[in-house]
Amino acid sequence: MVGQDRAHALWHPFADMGAVEESPFVLARAEDVWVWDEQGRRYLDATASLWCANAGHGRPEIAVAVERQLRELDTYSIFGDYANRPALELADRLAALAPTPGSRVFLGSGGGDAIDTAAKLARAHFQLAGERDRVHLIAREHGYHGTHGFGTSVGGIGPNVAGWGPLVPDVSRVPYDSVDALVTEIERVGPERVAAFFCEPVIGAGGVRLPPDGYVEGVADVCSRYGVLLVADCVIAAFGRLGTWLGIDRWPDVRPDLIALAKGISGGTLPVGAVLVAPHVAEPFFSGAPGAPVLRHGPTYAGHPTCCAAALATLDVYEREDLIARGRALEGPLERALRPLAAHPLVGEVRAGLGLLGAVELSEEARAADPDAVTRLTLACREQGLLVRALGTGVAVSPPLTIAAEQIAEIGAGIAEGLTALERAPLGG
Ligand SMILES: Cc1ncc(COP(=O)(O)O)c(C=O)c1O
Repeated sequence: MVGQDRAHALWHPFADMGAVEESPFVLARAEDVWVWDEQGRRYLDATASLWCANAGHGRPEIAVAVERQLRELDTYSIFGDYANRPALELADRLAALAPTPGSRVFLGSGGGDAIDTAAKLARAHFQLAGERDRVHLIAREHGYHGTHGFGTSVGGIGPNVAGWGPLVPDVSRVPYDSVDALVTEIERVGPERVAAFFCEPVIGAGGVRLPPDGYVEGVADVCSRYGVLLVADCVIAAFGRLGTWLGIDRWPDVRPDLIALAKGISGGTLPVGAVLVAPHVAEPFFSGAPGAPVLRHGPTYAGHPTCCAAALATLDVYEREDLIARGRALEGPLERALRPLAAHPLVGEVRAGLGLLGAVELSEEARAADPDAVTRLTLACREQGLLVRALGTGVAVSPPLTIAAEQIAEIGAGIAEGLTALERAPLGG
């Protein structure tokens, strides 16, 4: 029962609840690149929910697979020696995608889970190897790695990290675009103290920041030179967003020690995450030797059969319709749709060109003149029937891989109209 003094009990993540409570934007239905609100208005989903509905919404194949699994074995844990066929099959299919043969797969409920698993595994790896001082984690400014404990601590978006009191100690951040800065930081901390470096191939929530040429290969080299584990956070980048299965495989010579996956793994339909673990990290846990270590870690829903069935059906859709490569094929059209917006007086920068994602950042002056400018632009786009994602300094787009060329053009046109509306409306109004 909702109390008399409030409209709704639901507390939305990342929301100013004072503003949202009275008038939530209630969605009712979705199909392919379209979603409808409760009033029946249709919107182009230029964000694939939160960068995840890569196969498009409302896939009947996924619904059928989920229903079948719910009827057969709805839920069961995979703790200890328990397993189920969907979890076994999903792990095998993901392992087959890994750049390092023989990789193992730790399943979880999403990206934040995967990052916390990767952080703990990296630390456990060095504890077991007798390098007990190797606990320090380095990440990048603007990076986003979810909202769990380790993910919050290694995050590089200031407001997300502040206000909690002490987080995980032994964490530091480097500029997002400099290989030399990583070297300097490893030397400052002491290479014998650094366990892992966290890297999104393309930074997503932190503003769609593309890596400079040579950056990804460069940091991979540095990590391998210093014996630091490379954690590729491909939660957004994988499953076609960069036009390849894992995202990091856009750089075929790079072989991360740990790869975090989520979102597109199930097209966002049911919560699934995974960490691909290179053999040298996984091996001690699989040795079978007396007293071999046990990873005392894992969420209740790790390997959840129905969630894994959804993921398997999604992978089938990607394969059958050859969707993965579209993330690359469409990066040019998306860039061409967004780039002209850079000429708009309210726009500071447009970032796009690597994968099917992009950002339109408002100028500093526009944001200083109206601190609500990003929210207002997002709402103005919504008024045009276009859903874009509000970031700290601008808006991002990351549509389903099924989007058609003319719909990509509509994204550019919709944001342009949103900017015009923003310009016309009185500041702060
Ligand atoms: C790069 C990256 N890592 C981790 C996460 C956290 O994933 P989840 O929200 O599923 O916990 C996100 C979510 O947006 C992400 O973009």
